[in-house]
Amino acid sequence: MYKNDLILRAAKGEKVERVPIWLMRQAGRILPEYKATRARAKNFIEFVKNPELAAEVTIQPVDILGVDAAIIFSDILVIPEAMGLPYQMIEAKGPNFEKTIQSKKDIDDLRIAEAGDLDYVMQAIKLAKKDLNNRVPLIGFAGAPWTLMAYMIEGSGSKTFSQAKKFFYQEPTLAHQLLEKITQSTINYLKGQVAAGADMIQLFDSWAGVLGHDQYLEFSLKYISKICDAIEPLVPVTVFAKDAHFALADMAKLNCNTIGLDWTINPQDARIIIGNGKTLQGNADPCMLYADEKTIEATARKMVADFGKQRYIANLGHGLYPDIDKNKVKFFVDCIKGL
Ligand code: CP3
Repeated sequence: MYKNDLILRAAKGEKVERVPIWLMRQAGRILPEYKATRARAKNFIEFVKNPELAAEVTIQPVDILGVDAAIIFSDILVIPEAMGLPYQMIEAKGPNFEKTIQSKKDIDDLRIAEAGDLDYVMQAIKLAKKDLNNRVPLIGFAGAPWTLMAYMIEGSGSKTFSQAKKFFYQEPTLAHQLLEKITQSTINYLKGQVAAGADMIQLFDSWAGVLGHDQYLEFSLKYISKICDAIEPLVPVTVFAKDAHFALADMAKLNCNTIGLDWTINPQDARIIIGNGKTLQGNADPCMLYADEKTIEATARKMVADFGKQRYIANLGHGLYPDIDKNKVKFFVDCIKGL
């Protein structure tokens, strides 16, 4: 059905002729084409809510960088918004929520989002699928419940997320109520993405690394596991928990196909801990793309040598930074595809 289904085969553990590659934050500010499309929207939120524009920037990296998958252009914060917490994306600063979660009433007031509340994402997926015309699969995504909870309590980014973690110590029952509501909303949302045409799903647990092991199991992985159980029967699922190498053995037990790795763990150790039952995805340091072409090529070779060609999806260990040269990104993609 697909002209190129390498990534789906790699996720399912089927044989591939070469290693597939896509890049986190590939639809973004490294591309002048993205900036041109973004300039047509009033602000980030209007951009995300415009299915034509969102579909357009979803396809750009496939056309320009030659990656083996598209990822739908959206943001993880659309779920808190659909649950009743609107946000703004402040230029050069990041997200900001005018209202945050502080009490039981705040949690009771949140609604459980339905796929229909995020119809603009579903429309963007349908348009992107049409434009892709089966060239490569389309990845849908959502934030992991803990990472979304962290933003919903703090109201913005944070180095420590100490206010959100305070909830675990002072209000553990409320924390679980909040996480459960986010989880139910996310399952509804991801089922909608799959129905609209998403071929695989990635969960982003960007703030996994601020939690200790026991807290990670209790407040994060438990809910990721519920989402995997609901979605994995439908399409392949990838779990990317940044800085959570301390929990890789636990993640190996999830009903997911692929585990995303950041650059702080070496591939051989990850494979030993996780075993052969999962596909691994990652894990170059995005800063490596500031290097010269010789270094980029050597890194690509080492990645494929260390991870192996099967059960592997090449990617970075986190998203591209805005000032990375798109020619270097394309060079890196071509290096992996040539191996
Ligand atoms: O990967 C892709 O290309 C698809 C699009 C995508 C965006 N956000 C678009 C975006 C994805 C997958 C995300 C996920 C996301 N959003 C995460 C998880 C991944 C990660 O990086 O850890 C998180 C934590 C967010 C929340 C968020 N969105 C922040 C903190 C910021 C501001 C900082 C930043 O990186 O710019 C955003 C804004 C955002 N989301 C931009 C894009 C392209 C930049 C906005 C712009 O165009 O100026």
